[in-house]
Amino acid sequence: MINAVEVTGLSKSFGKETVLKDINISFEAGKIHGIVGRNGSGKTVLMKCILGFLKPDSGKACVFGNVIGKDTDFAPDTGMMIETPGFIATESGANNLKWLLNLRKGRKVDVVSYMNMIGLDAKSKKPVGKYSLGMRQRLGIAQAIMENPKLLILDEPMNGLDNKGVDDMRSLFLKLKEQGVTIILCSHNPLDISQLCDTVCEIDAGVLKTVR
Ligand SMILES: Nc1ncnc2c1ncn2[C@@H]1O[C@H](COP(=O)(O)OP(=O)(O)OP(=O)(O)O)[C@@H](O)[C@H]1O
Ligand SMILES: [Mg+2]
Repeated sequence: MINAVEVTGLSKSFGKETVLKDINISFEAGKIHGIVGRNGSGKTVLMKCILGFLKPDSGKACVFGNVIGKDTDFAPDTGMMIETPGFIATESGANNLKWLLNLRKGRKVDVVSYMNMIGLDAKSKKPVGKYSLGMRQRLGIAQAIMENPKLLILDEPMNGLDNKGVDDMRSLFLKLKEQGVTIILCSHNPLDISQLCDTVCEIDAGVLKTVR
């Protein structure tokens, strides 16, 4: 068994508020892992620690054998969508994706195929500022997957999607898993968790426990 992510003894507080207490969890490669828990329980904070956006007070997160904040600043080979994806409001969806790729070493990626894959019209000149919530969310998912990451960290990826969108994304995530991608996702939707996830853990009062 190869673990994509290993979190060891990780704790994180903000001022007097202890959000995560001594978290220990491994996420096996090639599976879909769900994280559940009430609003404010620390799911997003844990994801940000794994990605390298937040520094734990103690303990560590390790992604594909790299200790975050030591061997690497940010999780390698990882696509992510955390909270509301941010885009340039005045530019089209396709231009936003091209811009992000350009920032990252000008990689050649067929953004049209990714936009089609997640159900957006790549030819549309509509600026992202005029997108609906679900359209923005779809663009965020396209951005997360467009560089063929080995690990996907998705915070509430189904937010604002219509029923067809939810079905499309579920199929897409299962297809990516078949291709060997590891997915960690937070969701408040019990169906996402039961239908998609191979393992489930819950954060409650700062403590993480394995549900299945
Ligand atoms: N940068 C920060 N500074 C101070 N407190 C923070 C910061 N980020 C998160 N917190 C606090 O940490 C706690 C956990 O927040 P987090 O966003 O991880 O919750 P969550 O489980 O993702 O909730 P939700 O289901 O609403 O998305 C909250 O009390 C939040 O206010
Ligand atoms: Mg959250």
